[in-house]
Amino acid sequence: MITLRKARALKGELTVPGDKSISHRSVMFGSIARGTTEITGFLQGADCLSTISCFAKMGIPVENDGSRVIVRGRGLRGLRQPEEPLDCGNSGTTVRLLSGILSGQSFSSVLTGDASIRRRPMKRIIDPLTLMGADVESIPGTGCAPLQIHGGALHGIHYQSPVASAQVKSAVLLAGLYSEGQTAVTEPALSRNHTELMLRYFGAQVDSHDTTAVIRPADELYGQKISVPGDISSAAYFIAAGLMIPGSELLIKNVGINPTRDGIIRVCRMMGADITLLNENHENAEPTADILVRGSDMKATVIEGKLIPTLIDELPVIAVMACAAEGETIIRDAAELKIKESNRIQAIAENLTAMGADVTETEDGLIIRGGRPLHGASIQCHMDHRIAMSFAVAALWAEGETTITDSDCVSISYPDFFRELGQLTESY
Ligand code: S3P
Repeated sequence: MITLRKARALKGELTVPGDKSISHRSVMFGSIARGTTEITGFLQGADCLSTISCFAKMGIPVENDGSRVIVRGRGLRGLRQPEEPLDCGNSGTTVRLLSGILSGQSFSSVLTGDASIRRRPMKRIIDPLTLMGADVESIPGTGCAPLQIHGGALHGIHYQSPVASAQVKSAVLLAGLYSEGQTAVTEPALSRNHTELMLRYFGAQVDSHDTTAVIRPADELYGQKISVPGDISSAAYFIAAGLMIPGSELLIKNVGINPTRDGIIRVCRMMGADITLLNENHENAEPTADILVRGSDMKATVIEGKLIPTLIDELPVIAVMACAAEGETIIRDAAELKIKESNRIQAIAENLTAMGADVTETEDGLIIRGGRPLHGASIQCHMDHRIAMSFAVAALWAEGETTITDSDCVSISYPDFFRELGQLTESY
């Protein structure tokens, strides 16, 4: 549990931890590549450490000294059958992407994880992988993990995904590496494209047009040097806090601003926020920038459609930010939020209501009538790291004192979050 109070302002500079999606992929692709992959800026959060431990159980030596991760890949067919179930912890990315890789192996394996993972829908990857000829079964028969995967011969498909999900797209593309013929995925809206960019960087033949990605089977991938940019999803808490709290000024350095992830920046601009990108650059195939934010008077906006996949993990903190914006902010087309680490629509509505916000929960989003003060409350974060960090931001803006239970769950994506937030906070 942690207790936070209203802040006077947030000031200074910080570098947020490495991007979670890119960190997972660097270890996964490094493991199935030939040769050494050297990763700097790797996110040392529990989710990405789960990915390392799964590959270690399949015979991939990974050295991790906390600042550099070295993966000694054994090639596309170099994984060994694990002797025990692969524990993915709290990480949906690990279960879903690994399912694609394991479908193409010549051995059987079981994927499992914590209580939250065992409730999350896996049918969305079981369906396309089965169409490719894979044998993937939900052991409890509920469409959820644990999953039993008997790897074998696969064939390419053109999958029309019913959801804009990078995890689904990536599972299919990774299975496509091992398939006969070409594999394509078309999504209803473009989800994050780190898999396409990084697989290409490792030597795979991947093409993208609009919302379709196509992959051809590979003979081998080749180990690379990867420098992971800061995670915009982690920067989001500081962007929101810096904008909401008058007199704040924060410079967040070296953040990944891939256009499939930068929806929060676009929303901040729609809300009239003072947000500037500096030092725009590239890390490997990924664009980066420093982000400067200053306390701003903001107005409400509508967040919907194609924008949603580009800010899906930022919606909890955007909902908090909407409380400081004058007028009615509408978030719609975001039903995916209900099946994240917690039911985030419910968790946001329940906790904002506890803080005195005027918020309505809808089937696929939230309506927030902002511009009125919040007060401190006891926050239930449902072991969801993004709810804990979003409400830490709300706590710094609200009158009085807020407690956040199970605040340790931030270790999933940002182990030092509260310490770094504290260092930038000027108190009353
Ligand atoms: C992720 C994709 C997103 C996101 C998750 C990480 C990834 O999930 O919410 O935190 O690394 O591919 P979906 O693409 O399934 O929405």
